[in-house]
Amino acid sequence: MSEVPIPPHRRRAHTSTRDLERYAGLFAERTTVMRSSAMRDLMAITARPEVISLAGGLPDTSTFPPQSFAAQMTRIAQESAAEALQYGPTEGFEETKDCIVEVMGAEGMLVDPHDVIVTTGGQQAIDLICKALVDPGDVVICEAPTYPGAVPVFCSYQAEVIQVECDEDGMRVDELEQLLERLRRDGRRPKFVYSVPTFQNPAGVTMSLPRRQRLVELARLHELLVVEDNPYGLLRYGGEPMPPLYQLDGGDFVLYIGTFSKILSPGIRLGWAVAPPPVMEKIVLGKQAADLCTSTLTQYFVREYFAEGRWRQYVEDLVEIYRGRRDTMLAALVEHFPAAATWTEPQGGLFIWATLPEYIDSGDLLAKALRADVAFVPGQAAYIDERGRNSMRLNFSGVGDAEIREGIRRIGAVIAEQVELYEALTGEESTLARAEPGRRGGEADGADVLPFRKTGEGSG
Ligand SMILES: Cc1ncc(COP(=O)(O)O)c(C=O)c1O
Repeated sequence: MSEVPIPPHRRRAHTSTRDLERYAGLFAERTTVMRSSAMRDLMAITARPEVISLAGGLPDTSTFPPQSFAAQMTRIAQESAAEALQYGPTEGFEETKDCIVEVMGAEGMLVDPHDVIVTTGGQQAIDLICKALVDPGDVVICEAPTYPGAVPVFCSYQAEVIQVECDEDGMRVDELEQLLERLRRDGRRPKFVYSVPTFQNPAGVTMSLPRRQRLVELARLHELLVVEDNPYGLLRYGGEPMPPLYQLDGGDFVLYIGTFSKILSPGIRLGWAVAPPPVMEKIVLGKQAADLCTSTLTQYFVREYFAEGRWRQYVEDLVEIYRGRRDTMLAALVEHFPAAATWTEPQGGLFIWATLPEYIDSGDLLAKALRADVAFVPGQAAYIDERGRNSMRLNFSGVGDAEIREGIRRIGAVIAEQVELYEALTGEESTLARAEPGRRGGEADGADVLPFRKTGEGSG
């Protein structure tokens, strides 16, 4: 297709003060508290081919066999082109829901397809749940740190977000309990608790069974909704599976969010939400207003793919690959990060959360790291407030072993510069000694993580 030149009078000059004034009075109140997703911004920067990105949460889609993709799409084109190119029901096709029931069944959950809506990724499910439940000023509770992509959603619905600290066993449910009590005394009822209890994004930690049980009990006691976001449950590299909150609760108070992004492809933009009928009704209304329906074409693709019966084998192949990459990253951290750093040892998922000495600001560090052509997500993206400054999220699924090693080496070198500068300025003794191999153990058995930052204080 030949390119049509933009006529000179239509070309955008720099935004003038006049332009800013013209639009300023039109923006909705909520835009003043909207914030950008740090990850989206970073993805633009890390698109440069020379950058080793440990920033995204990217699954390695190069592992999906192109012949299989071609065969499925050809079958769709030959057998059901007209239907696949048409609109579909807002709730999603029954056949897609059958696949979802199968995926949830693989983690021990029994679900009624009527309680399921197919969404444009798990991200839209978070948005639709907020749209259905959150008015400006409402309290939403989440983990500290929380999924960085949920932060802009909560902000755009003008929620008051309260974060409850995590440790190696996931959200501190005892702190949550105290918080609920405080809110009750103030006459405030939180709209929901948002949690990624299994292989959390960003911290890589998993909520222990006693905490899961207690959280579900609290939900019943306080008639509190819990939103369980579980993109990573099937990506387990060690240890025993843990029952999802949805399974423990049976679906009365736990709303569930799932996605095909990490077990098949994020490009197909297919996720889902599970909710009891009264909540589902509102979610469906919100979805109608947002985009009418989820892509018919990609739902047809999932249907064809599941009909082949090999989806579990593909997930097992991914698990093998990611386990190796996680181990590579853990070994590289021991080699290249200073002894003063700690990090999580996840038993699944895609992320390691590293914490550096307090005086290092990971936002500043990122600017320096980008000059060395390597990227990570600064910890602050996972907090509503100013916390997380000396932490970082590192992804080990999106690039191969050699790049992981080189990426961690480069980040380690930038950290070393910062540490040396600090020590030169303060005269403090060197903390640059490398971590002893084994100091953080090998494969964590039993606990999901070894060291985890203990910040101590409160949830607010
Ligand atoms: C916890 C969590 N929720 C939701 C999403 C959004 O995923 P998607 O919209 O691709 O399904 C992600 C993506 O990384 C995630 O980590």
